Amino acid sequence: MAGRTGFYEKCLGDMAGVYRDERAFDAAVAAHGADHLVYRVEEHRSGDGPGALIIGTSTVLPGRYGDEFAVTRGHLHARPDRAELYHCLSGSGVLLMETLDGRSRAVPLTPGRPCTCPGTGCTAA
Ligand SMILES: [Fe+2]
Repeated sequence: MAGRTGFYEKCLGDMAGVYRDERAFDAAVAAHGADHLVYRVEEHRSGDGPGALIIGTSTVLPGRYGDEFAVTRGHLHARPDRAELYHCLSGSGVLLMETLDGRSRAVPLTPGRPCTCPGTGCTAA
């Protein structure tokens, strides 16, 4: 998408504490460096304030740290009743979702299979 309004990247140095296997993670940092790119996010905001549509494009680069594949840091919404739609453009992956009360769910991501995360839980479309 053209006209992004925001952009950020996360490198290995930003991912401490995310992976279970700390030894594998530390070995990856030693091998590739703390500035090794893990993922990037482009943001497109239609405006500010309530009702503004936000579209984010996340690109997760291939990577494996022990038995875990590369992941994003994940996030919580400031307003938890806000739904979110994930649509995989290419490649494959898994969307991991967790509610504040500890329920979790993993949904495969493949091109053409959208996944909706309503504010009250998570379902795959
Ligand atoms: Fe979100």
